[in-house]
Amino acid sequence: MSTALIVLAAGKGTRMKSDLPKVLHPIAGAPMLVHALRAGATLDPARIAVVTGHGAESVEAAALEHDEDIRCVRQEQQLGTAHAVAQARSALDGHDGDALVLYGDTPFIQPETLERMIEARRTHDVVVLGFEAADPGRYGRLVMQGETLERIVEFKDASDQEKAVTFCNSGVIAADSQTLFQLIDAVGNDNASGEYYLTDIIAIARNRGLGATAIACDEAETLGVNSRAELASAEALFQSRARQNAFDDGVMMQAPATVHFAFDTVIGPDTQIEPNVVFGPGVTVENGAHIRAFSHLEGCHVARGAVVGPYARLRPGAELAEDVRVGNFVEIKNAVLEQGAKVNHLTYIGDADLGEGCNIGAGTVTCNYDGVMKHRTAIGAGAFIGSGTMLVAPVTVGGGALIGSGSVITRDVPDGALAISRAHQEIKPGFAQKFFDALRKKKDMRNKGSS
Ligand code: UD1
Ligand code: CA
Repeated sequence: MSTALIVLAAGKGTRMKSDLPKVLHPIAGAPMLVHALRAGATLDPARIAVVTGHGAESVEAAALEHDEDIRCVRQEQQLGTAHAVAQARSALDGHDGDALVLYGDTPFIQPETLERMIEARRTHDVVVLGFEAADPGRYGRLVMQGETLERIVEFKDASDQEKAVTFCNSGVIAADSQTLFQLIDAVGNDNASGEYYLTDIIAIARNRGLGATAIACDEAETLGVNSRAELASAEALFQSRARQNAFDDGVMMQAPATVHFAFDTVIGPDTQIEPNVVFGPGVTVENGAHIRAFSHLEGCHVARGAVVGPYARLRPGAELAEDVRVGNFVEIKNAVLEQGAKVNHLTYIGDADLGEGCNIGAGTVTCNYDGVMKHRTAIGAGAFIGSGTMLVAPVTVGGGALIGSGSVITRDVPDGALAISRAHQEIKPGFAQKFFDALRKKKDMRNKGSS
């Protein structure tokens, strides 16, 4: 049975006080919306519809950037959650199977929870995801009778007795998609908010003799984000889960609270992460690597046994093969470092290919940008680049070549050659003493003149 996702993301998010649509605020480097989509993706959905409204253009752009097959539909006026789901009807046209409704601002629903919902669908027409709320606040209340969900009452419309219910609606609902839209057709807006409530479909389903139930998940999963403070709590929750997952995967961190993960960070077992390391999106670190303190990695791959940092920056497109060393105050961007290459101090390597076992001296810079275009630098296996070398790209240094310190290399260097391009050194015996004596005399004259 195939499943379609309907992700609601039209709401304004007034309490964020932001020009950025709420669902685009990031957690661990990805918009909240993407977290919701990733959770849903584990069901291998046949279709995905995202309902947009406030900030529709940017929300749609983000959705399509994540997955170009997503169908975005607009809800011009936010008339309620049932009205929002109804907008997805055309996007699900011809879909034979379940529809699962998710919220774009509820990023933590676990894939296993969604699988349990799909499982429960085998025995019930409509399945709602509920949770026991520590503080039920303004959540919709789930009115159960045994296993059967009879109706959902919104807080504003609830009696005192109903308000006492602590089993609450997360908003996630699964039903056969035809059934879902038929039920939504019957939803009216005669309630305290004057909105079309998706939650009303439960009572309608029961009146039609359909079966409805609610399954429970942990309250932390249903955490919705409505304010900056809640966004920060969501980030903290994500980070603590990511750290626990890393430990479970065999990663060592001495100061886990100072290590910051991205939504998609992948780290192999026996890797050591020292304190104060930040992972931006798109990082893979293989087994047994060592990421030393205060390093920042983003969009890069670190192979087995490589050592990075302390204070290293790996930017998108940095590919470190096995046993590579990247040391302090080194920045690597869009560059491949073959096995055992060493770049240990104060260096910028951008748009480059570094051969096996080459050694890049301190303060080397690949001058990759001419002000208009980027150019590549290639360095052959075993080459030795002296400290303070400027490699003006495009340029190639052959395998086993040697570059004298302080050189500015503008022409290709053949394999095994020495290239040296600095001014000749002059020696003037005794000159230093004379020079400073003259300067001191000048200073004395000045001081006398001003007193
Ligand atoms: C909703 C539920 C409530 C539940 C709570 C969980 C209804 C009527 N109520 O209430 O039972 O406990 O979520 O958080 O469903 N949205 C649209 N278009 C709209 C209205 C909403 O896209 O016209 C989206 C919002 O962007 C948001 C989601 O739907 O992602 C929920 O809307 P929201 O207004 O936050 O619903 P609640 O009042 O919190
Ligand atoms: Ca809400």
